[in-house]
Amino acid sequence: MKTKKIAPSLLSADFSNIEKDIKMVEKGGADVLHLDVMDGHFVPNITFGPFVIKAIKRVATIPLDVHLMIENPGDYIAAFCDAGADYLTVHVEATPHLHRVLQQIRAKGVKAGVSLNPHTPLSTIEEVLGDLDMILIMAVNPGFGGQSFIPNTLDKLKRLQKMLKKHNAEHVEVEVDGGIKLENIREVSEAGCDIFVSGSGIFKADNPIEMIRKMKKVI
Ligand code: DX5
Ligand code: ZN
Repeated sequence: MKTKKIAPSLLSADFSNIEKDIKMVEKGGADVLHLDVMDGHFVPNITFGPFVIKAIKRVATIPLDVHLMIENPGDYIAAFCDAGADYLTVHVEATPHLHRVLQQIRAKGVKAGVSLNPHTPLSTIEEVLGDLDMILIMAVNPGFGGQSFIPNTLDKLKRLQKMLKKHNAEHVEVEVDGGIKLENIREVSEAGCDIFVSGSGIFKADNPIEMIRKMKKVI
């Protein structure tokens, strides 16, 4: 049975005092922590790698949801799993050997996720639905926080639900990332989402703890 989860994205947190922000979102009832890894090649931005994730693992009490926006993700599976990822997500556009990469993640006992950019068709993952635990639908072009939600995502989510049903894969969790705020979170939920990533929507709110609580009430 799937439960709906809020996943604050630390990309919008205060990295000079990351422990404080982690404790804050945990207090609000955050279910997982979303960690955005960017390499400056797959996306035009650079963030952090396994070393920082290992440090976050020491202070977090909720699972780590690691979103790899990097080229050649297959070369780094062991490093991110060993750093403490509970979910590890790679982009379908970043590897020609998706099936192998998913197997590598699962072999580490970690939940295997695949992410699709806004322009990437759902058919690109149809053959591997039995090999993954989570699908991450990008609602913005990856690289930066604070962008606007792309409206076509809602239709894509509805079509994804049909595809999962057709293949008896309804146990697969669906995550949506980018532009999620209190104003649109219910609509995203109704279109078919289990894990809601929100960076600026939570950390830029006047009261992030209250914001998470409000979001949880309407999903
Ligand atoms: C964007 C990242 C997101 C980002 C979302 O490439 O993958 O996780 O932090 O930020 P918001 O919620 O501000 O759009
Ligand atoms: Zn992300």
